[in-house]
Amino acid sequence: MKSLSYLNKYLFKYKWRLLLGAIFIIGSNWFKVEMTNYFGDLTDDLTGWETNGDPTLLLYKALKAGGYFMLLSLFSGFLLFMTRQTIIVVSRLIEYDLKNEIYRQYQRLSFSFYKRNNTGDLMNRISEDVTKVRMYLGPGIMYTINLTSISILVIKNMLDVSPYLTGFVLIPLPLMSYIIYKVSSRINKISTLVQEEQSHMSTLVQETFTGIRVIKAYGRTQEIEDKFNASSENYKTKNMKLVLVNSLFMPTIFILIGVSTILSIYLGGLLHYNDQISLGDILKFIFYVNMLTWPFASIGFVTSMIQRAAASQTRINEFLKEEEEITNTNTTPFSFSGKIEFRNVSYTYPNSGINAIKNLSFKIEHGESLGIVGKTGSGKSTILNLLMRHIEADSGEILIDDIHIQDINLDDYRNQTGVVPQDVFLFSDTIRNNIQFGCMDDSIAEKQLIAAAKEAYIHHNIIEFKDGYGTLLGERGVNLSGGQKQRVSIARALIRNPKLLLLDDCLSAVDTETEEIILTNLAKKKITSLVISHRISSIRNANIVLNLENGAVIEQGTHKELMNANGSYSELYKKQLTEKED
Ligand SMILES: Nc1ncnc2c1ncn2[C@@H]1O[C@H](COP(=O)(O)OP(=O)(O)O)[C@@H](O)[C@H]1O
Ligand SMILES: [Mg+2]
Repeated sequence: MKSLSYLNKYLFKYKWRLLLGAIFIIGSNWFKVEMTNYFGDLTDDLTGWETNGDPTLLLYKALKAGGYFMLLSLFSGFLLFMTRQTIIVVSRLIEYDLKNEIYRQYQRLSFSFYKRNNTGDLMNRISEDVTKVRMYLGPGIMYTINLTSISILVIKNMLDVSPYLTGFVLIPLPLMSYIIYKVSSRINKISTLVQEEQSHMSTLVQETFTGIRVIKAYGRTQEIEDKFNASSENYKTKNMKLVLVNSLFMPTIFILIGVSTILSIYLGGLLHYNDQISLGDILKFIFYVNMLTWPFASIGFVTSMIQRAAASQTRINEFLKEEEEITNTNTTPFSFSGKIEFRNVSYTYPNSGINAIKNLSFKIEHGESLGIVGKTGSGKSTILNLLMRHIEADSGEILIDDIHIQDINLDDYRNQTGVVPQDVFLFSDTIRNNIQFGCMDDSIAEKQLIAAAKEAYIHHNIIEFKDGYGTLLGERGVNLSGGQKQRVSIARALIRNPKLLLLDDCLSAVDTETEEIILTNLAKKKITSLVISHRISSIRNANIVLNLENGAVIEQGTHKELMNANGSYSELYKKQLTEKED
């Protein structure tokens, strides 16, 4: 339960509305009790009418009672409406705040957090867990205030009539709360299972959609269908169970109300027979018991609701507590000239224990280019992650314009760097917006957009599409080829006029002629660049080339020097040349 105390700050924020809501509930209950008392007394008043009654007086009394009843019902109903307008609205407002808080946290957290958590789980926290918490905040709080206020009002009135009868008719109520609690817990448990099966089913379906080509090509439609049927069958069975338990809910309440009503009539009748209470009192009791039923039933399901909310809030808190590993400590504006240096940098991935970078040192002066070659897994992308400060070096220093990377304004530095990551990511949006994403200024001129696309040698492809730059990419849009995606991604990096350009094997799907054109375009721009590739043709014109193996530099020099050295670099080059000729 402690986890829910996190929400107190929000409850405090909306305290006035909540207070108002509580007043409305109490008011609504007060009217209900008043109505009952009025009718009880009226019954007593009218009991003797046949003997001494005057028909006109009776009509008058009946009409008055009807009017009074309508008036009180209207008041009570209006207050009920206002209760929902305050308390349920507060729960929605808190839901909104909480979702924003969680989303902000998602944006803050770094790279390694996303490696550790899966997408489905992160989505659940912001949707399902928040929903469960809202149930506690809205109905949970509303029913609790309702129970407390109506119990006090009704029991006080009951005791005024007959403490003896009160004792008896109240006996079944706690029993009902307990049974409802058990039934609710069971319903929640099965609901969770049903939800799990449902998400399993949607994952399966989603995968079928994305992998439909592979599935058809391998002739595996039957297997997938069987899998789906099994999951669907499972879902049905669990749902049936849920229906069964759900159908116990209302009958349980009705049986127990029935028992209380019978007790009121039977015991009340006996008391009336002994002239201890009036007929009207019995009537009041029947109404009282009915008024208490729903609040007492709510104890059961509110308890179970709070338990679920607490479990969800624990999960939310766990993640809100998560500390940002990499923070920007410096907010003074930073103007980057484009000089970078690694000094004895080492890095081990904490989750896999792989020592990806070993004692690495290199330097790139302003306007120079550095090429890095090496087999897959040699640590090339890790260098890029270190340079973008997605991860923090274990030892050694990374200097940006001769300043320690941890001491510069990270946001400014990143804004002046253009990264083309190894796995291209394009949004399901137009080509224009995908390229424009690279610059902060949304009102960028068409001229600049086209210039960047031309430098990335993609402009001529784009204008071939019917919608040109307005062509939609992604699921419902056009599918670009691997090489086209890479070039759009390069254009995105170029449009921001970076001081440092980081290319991570982003010409791998581009043929060597196109590669040559793009590299020549980039060389003209004279920006500091770090080009990572497994293909020597991409980096042969770099000012300096590092040949990486298992996270360590094994050779270093210009293309010419390395060729003359006749080491693994020249061997790799010769191998790639023959491959190209094949
Ligand atoms: N997020 C990660 N967690 C754990 N190990 C990783 C992670 N990323 C890369 N590695 C490991 O670090 C080594 C270097 O990877 P990487 O820098 O991606 O190589 P390259 O880009 O040269 O192919 C590899 O052995 C890889 O398995
Ligand atoms: Mg890589």
